[in-house]
Amino acid sequence: MQYECAAPFLRRGRRFSPPARYQSVGFMSHNTFGHLFRVTTWGESHGPALGCVVDGCPPGIRFRLEELQAWLDKRKPGQSRFVTQRREDDLVKVLSGVMSDDDGETMITTGTPVSMLIENTDQRSKDYGEIARRYRPGHADYAYDVKYGIRDYRGGGRSSARETAARVAAGGLARKVVPGVTVRAALVQIGKHRINRANWDWAQVDQNPFFAPDAAIVPVWEDYLDGIRKAGSSIGAVVEVIAEGVPAGLGAPIYGKLDQDIASLLMSINAVKGVEIGEGFAAAELTGEDNADEMRMGNDGKPLFLSNHAGGILGGISTGQPLVARFAIKPTSSILTERQSIDADGNNVDVRTKGRHDPCVGIRAVPIGEAMVACAIADHYLRDRGQTGRVR
Ligand SMILES: Cc1cc2nc3c(=O)[nH]c(=O)nc-3n(C[C@H](O)[C@H](O)[C@H](O)COP(=O)(O)O)c2cc1C
Repeated sequence: MQYECAAPFLRRGRRFSPPARYQSVGFMSHNTFGHLFRVTTWGESHGPALGCVVDGCPPGIRFRLEELQAWLDKRKPGQSRFVTQRREDDLVKVLSGVMSDDDGETMITTGTPVSMLIENTDQRSKDYGEIARRYRPGHADYAYDVKYGIRDYRGGGRSSARETAARVAAGGLARKVVPGVTVRAALVQIGKHRINRANWDWAQVDQNPFFAPDAAIVPVWEDYLDGIRKAGSSIGAVVEVIAEGVPAGLGAPIYGKLDQDIASLLMSINAVKGVEIGEGFAAAELTGEDNADEMRMGNDGKPLFLSNHAGGILGGISTGQPLVARFAIKPTSSILTERQSIDADGNNVDVRTKGRHDPCVGIRAVPIGEAMVACAIADHYLRDRGQTGRVR
């Protein structure tokens, strides 16, 4: 395969030739995840559009566009003063792989690739002119340049979390693949301020701009984030994802464990720096007596777990308990404070990131985390059929 731009080209008046080793391989790759429910995303922050192709979605899955749109609406920017003010409607179009039912609204998958498209409508590339040759600390700028020798500096290009809109669209479809599964997420920590878990109420999550399950934390986070925002700074957060109704038996040991794949997909979300399943890192402080989930036979003749420290997965296989995963998001790197860096010409520079940014990207990561877990479950549901021949 030939590198598309194998011929030297001008880059800001200088001749740029891709390194020889890139000229014989297609080096932009790894944009696909999943084995049977296989999602490929494409597109950049400041291109005309972005989207995904879901190849392997079974035939006969019924959904309405508004159901997919509801997930995208949850992720879209500009919905409160605590997220970026970029205005994108994030309207999703389904281009292929479906037929309309007689009601004209329900779409039915045909088993062929489902392609979905979301247009970018509010790009402001001029915000990024100054950093075309400067590496913003904490961003992917330097790393992309080192790897590819060329970088789309407008909004971070492919490294921008705009791409995650496509994942959320795929996740909307994934939710339909496994009957009876519910995947929900909530923000459980911003900076040092954690929710009180005793107050957990799912009904609260859609009632506040943070997706917080604890109404009492909302004014605390509002005050705290207002201070962070006005200072032009940013802060990290923790998101918890819980999937209920996951059938027992999903997961493909040894190298396709369910927890392994969930961790991998959550880790692939921009700015995620840590993933936990069940007790996660807290398990290091527990004794065997405290940690192992005891079992009894339930009155209904089914096994009953007396706790869920494992987060619903043992030996890489789902147990039928709720699946619990958590991920930590780093503070947004784009901040107004000047930070030390270098430019592409090897000069020391100071960088202050202008443009519109989320002061806490953890908020909008909530629906993205849900989507990635939904995709992992859908993929493993289909893989399990292939492995065992069973329909669970
Ligand atoms: C929903 C969401 C929105 C984001 N928005 C921004 C942003 O406005 N500014 C920023 O510096 N980083 C933002 N990020 C994080 C960057 O995309 C990410 O830090 C960058 O690509 C480098 O990748 P890494 O942090 O995974 O190493 C966002 C992440 C998510 C999940």
